[in-house]
Amino acid sequence: MREIRLAIPAQPRSYDILVGRGLIKQVPTLLSVENYSSLFVVTDEHLSVQWLPQLSLALPPHDVCVVAAGESAKTLASVEQIWAAMTEAGLDRKGLVIILGGGVLGDLAAFAAATYKRGVAFAQIPTTLVAQADSSVGGKTGFDYQGLKNLIGTFSQPQAVLADTEVLRTLPERELIAGFGEMFKHACIADPKFLKNLTAKAPTSYSPSEMANLIATSIRIKARIVSGDETEAGARKLLNFGHTVGHAAESLSWDTGRPLLHGEAVAIGMVAEAKLSCRIGRITGADVTRLANILSAAGLPIDLPSFSPSQLLAKMRADKKNADDRINFTLLTSLGEAVINQTVDEQELVDVLTTPLEEYREH
Ligand SMILES: NC(=O)c1ccc[n+]([C@@H]2O[C@H](COP(=O)([O-])OP(=O)(O)OC[C@H]3O[C@@H](n4cnc5c(N)ncnc54)[C@H](O)[C@@H]3O)[C@@H](O)[C@H]2O)c1
Ligand SMILES: [Zn+2]
Repeated sequence: MREIRLAIPAQPRSYDILVGRGLIKQVPTLLSVENYSSLFVVTDEHLSVQWLPQLSLALPPHDVCVVAAGESAKTLASVEQIWAAMTEAGLDRKGLVIILGGGVLGDLAAFAAATYKRGVAFAQIPTTLVAQADSSVGGKTGFDYQGLKNLIGTFSQPQAVLADTEVLRTLPERELIAGFGEMFKHACIADPKFLKNLTAKAPTSYSPSEMANLIATSIRIKARIVSGDETEAGARKLLNFGHTVGHAAESLSWDTGRPLLHGEAVAIGMVAEAKLSCRIGRITGADVTRLANILSAAGLPIDLPSFSPSQLLAKMRADKKNADDRINFTLLTSLGEAVINQTVDEQELVDVLTTPLEEYREH
């Protein structure tokens, strides 16, 4: 088992993030469930079939709330469903909410827990690679609103994160590959050596133990960044690399017949924002090509679907990361280092979004 402790100076307590096989069976001990007045499990319709039975068997008596799966269910209606179930179960402020699911459920249910009765303790049991390597760590909660990603939310830290790598066994391949999108992001902003490790094999070829090491490295990078800046006043913005264009592409794709997974949208966003980094002279065209090749070889999409630049710009202008009416980017200074708070001229941005990747090969 790999253990990572996340300490945030402004918070009264630190918390443990554990990565290893078979953690679900040890949940009562790992979460010291006897310290809580009651237990309330939230999961989604897929996990309720796949992994809830094992969790339920391990736990003392508890209530369960099952919500619909997928980004389209990351809504206020789902949050209300969870609040209603919490109320009906008589959950009090000394209870513990145990969240079993991917990044969508993790963000949603953590928001519900963080706002119910002004906040009840919660623990994350992330079940996708996106959730294990990224979203369950750091305390961002929330849901999508009016066609905008994560518009409503809080910063609320869990009691603990238990990433049981056993559960990845049932994760569809496309979801697993999407999880590599976020791990590549962590490598690109902070760790060239990790980038090299991530390209050693195809995403589906790593052994469980190798995968646990990749997840732990990814979490360590995120934990280090978050511990210095919980509420994204500065350094935490590094984690937004690929997400300005990525979130715009992701939310536009919801209205098409083929919605992008979050990790896929991040891969597309990273290539677009690498092109932008090249345009402002921070990295070379060869760096852009190298990153695009790495992501593509892992099976991730790299090309923007055919959205018009004006559609993309409209979404990017509405992004909550902006300040003073300027679209805010985190851009690369090399493949392994990034810089926050970059703004670019909108015409330049449109140029970059419409310039084919091939043109970067010559620079
Ligand atoms: N809070 C953060 O810091 C943060 C960071 C990154 C991403 N996110 C958010 O995470 C979300 C994406 O999360 P995701 O990629 O985990 O998608 P997801 O939560 O939608 O899960 C993907 C699908 O896989 C199913 N599933 C989950 N675990 C499974 C398992 N072990 N076996 C079989 N099926 C399983 C789910 O039911 C769902 O249908 C986005 O909304 C994104 O905004 C948040
Ligand atoms: Zn993300």
